[in-house]
Amino acid sequence: MRASEKELPIGFMDSGLGGLSVLIEAVREMPSEDFLYFGDSANAPYGTKSQEEIKRLTYDVVRMLLKRGIKGLAVACNTATSAAVRSLRGDYPALPIVGIEPAIKPAVEKNKGGRIIVLATPMTIAQEKYRKLVERYKGDTDLVSVPCPGLMEFVEEGDLNGPDLERYFEEHLERYLTPDTETIVLGCTHYPFIRERLREYLKNDGIDIIDGSLGTARELKRRLSEKGLLRSADRKGRIIMENSDREGKKTERGRILLERAGIEL
Ligand code: DGL
Repeated sequence: MRASEKELPIGFMDSGLGGLSVLIEAVREMPSEDFLYFGDSANAPYGTKSQEEIKRLTYDVVRMLLKRGIKGLAVACNTATSAAVRSLRGDYPALPIVGIEPAIKPAVEKNKGGRIIVLATPMTIAQEKYRKLVERYKGDTDLVSVPCPGLMEFVEEGDLNGPDLERYFEEHLERYLTPDTETIVLGCTHYPFIRERLREYLKNDGIDIIDGSLGTARELKRRLSEKGLLRSADRKGRIIMENSDREGKKTERGRILLERAGIEL
């Protein structure tokens, strides 16, 4: 390995701002690393597009990141992961690549008999990969998958506290909530940014709201460490955030989301 490879940033991609929820955990886990984050907001949402289109868009972003130079890749988008990660691993075998999938395994593992509700994009839920994931872990738990078209847009638009979000929950989620609902799985990387609003809406401290961002960040660290690609701890890493959105608003919104998590650009 060339010394310089270690010095390259870790690439992150998502259809927009959602992957920042994974980036936040990755920065906490690996503060001395540099990160190059690309949000494809100009082509968002991915979650209502066809698999071929999502794959094509994902490859476009990944090729661009590789051209810039990255030592590892996080596909920080459940939708892009289900559409493209397998084929990406085949095409770039030397590159450590991690994807993200709805945190069904941990939800089932800690289940005490109540309902599990999984919120994800229509595309993630429609995929064969998702069906297999559910089949593998569900057992006899009461698990309900709820496609949420239009939910990621609240995060993209920075509308995290308004009444429209509450209306969205009323229309799309309310009918699935049972008195024994135990866990809600946020199966799209945009959704952790609406967690607090969802918690308020549920008015029920007993429901656990989980996501896979920390697990994905740790897996990324493990994969980079295995290849000897982690930098030494005596430096503070940099974050470069870019977006295909031409108005320039998304990068500013992303900066605010990071800042709220205590991460400065
Ligand atoms: N953030 C993406 C995910 O994790 C999808 C949002 C979208 O583009 O529909 O699935």
